[in-house]
Amino acid sequence: MNIAMIGAGYVGLVSGACFAEFGASVTCVDVDASKVARLNDGRMPIYEPGLDEIVQRNVEQGRLRFTSEFDGCVGDAELVFVAVGTPSRRGDGHADVSFVYDAVRQIAPLLRNYSVVVDKSTVPIGTARQVARIITEVNPEADFDVASNPEFLREGAAISDFMRPDRIVIGVESQRAEEKLRALYRPLNLVEVPILVTRLETAELIKYAANAFLATKISFINEMAALCEAVGADVHDVARGIGLDGRIGRKFLHPGPGFGGSCFPKDTLALVRTAQEFGTPSRIVQSVVEVNAAQRRRMIAKIRNALGGSEAGKVIAVLGLTYKPETDDMRESPSLAILPPLVEKGARIRATDPHGIEEARGHLPDSIEYVEDVYETLDGADAVVLLTEWNVYRGLDLEEVKGRMRGNVFIDLRNVYEPAPMASLGFEYTCVGRG
Ligand code: UDX
Repeated sequence: MNIAMIGAGYVGLVSGACFAEFGASVTCVDVDASKVARLNDGRMPIYEPGLDEIVQRNVEQGRLRFTSEFDGCVGDAELVFVAVGTPSRRGDGHADVSFVYDAVRQIAPLLRNYSVVVDKSTVPIGTARQVARIITEVNPEADFDVASNPEFLREGAAISDFMRPDRIVIGVESQRAEEKLRALYRPLNLVEVPILVTRLETAELIKYAANAFLATKISFINEMAALCEAVGADVHDVARGIGLDGRIGRKFLHPGPGFGGSCFPKDTLALVRTAQEFGTPSRIVQSVVEVNAAQRRRMIAKIRNALGGSEAGKVIAVLGLTYKPETDDMRESPSLAILPPLVEKGARIRATDPHGIEEARGHLPDSIEYVEDVYETLDGADAVVLLTEWNVYRGLDLEEVKGRMRGNVFIDLRNVYEPAPMASLGFEYTCVGRG
């Protein structure tokens, strides 16, 4: 099966490589020529565990190619996936679909045989239908259908999520298109992945609803964590106590500095705007967005309190900058909201991260000092803030940590360590929601 994947960003690259791994012949098209050159050189533009091996193997075996040219691959493709970015539009929070429509205008004149044009990007409800209108307008002769096939990949675990998804959602309105997409995902029959076929709008909404619901769980537990601190309860026991109820489920109930990344913040905001626009406001999702912003402010206050009320002149060692482990992605990372106000108030920050330093430099205040080695980061620090739960920070040599530091304040915003043993070791230990 011939596939053109428009956009070699996070979604396009992972999906393209995995479809090639399934045996399809995939051409990834990206307008960024330097990215294409890098990929053709065997260098990955992002850090994602396992991706480089899959890309390399499929390139070597001739099933995966990268180019900046739309001609030459779109015309022969049975499936043309659109996986370009849909960032939050400045000012109103709506997803910006201009890159999607630009891509579709380039694809439309090149369509030769029957093909299915599939939205893979997270796009506002109604986009697939609009894509169909654009194609017909540009190329009235085109023999095509549109489809919506959202992805539910988690960064850092994207390859295994792709190979063993909980479900595949396909929005289509023609038998022919449905058959093509079912054939593409046939390799997943072996692991019995449910395939849900819906109308276009339904598939588009499923993606937003899934992300908003997961974000709701996180904001809910973060609110409970604040209450736990006030009443002297333990949020981990609360999460377990409710999560063991099968109707609630245990996942996504881990408190922390609030959700970040390329999806939850953007998609919750976009859903709020869409719901408003259609006259059915979502007060729940609106609150989820507000609680997440408040959680970041609460983390700043927590750090300030742990430092005796002022961070001025204090040396703070920060462990972890990316929004979650196993990625170099800094998009909407809690570090971007938490660290600049501390710097502004006179804190001296030394930070480390296994894969995020290069990306962080461009986004955080210049005065932050970056250190590769975890223990060196701690030299002479008054306090340590554990901000991202990378594995290397889960088993720190705590005697060495203490020995390196000038002070003894340990602020664990991911609840990696246990309060009692940390206190016995002589740390003034602060975490989230464990009163
Ligand atoms: C998410 C969705 O999980 C995925 O299905 C969708 O396609 C894209 O968005 P991702 O952003 O890669 O994936 O990461 P995820 O592991 O879901 O975490 C998102 C954010 O929530 C991170 O900032 C994480 O730290 C936070 N989180 C997650 C919590 O604070 N607590 C939790 O219990 C789970």
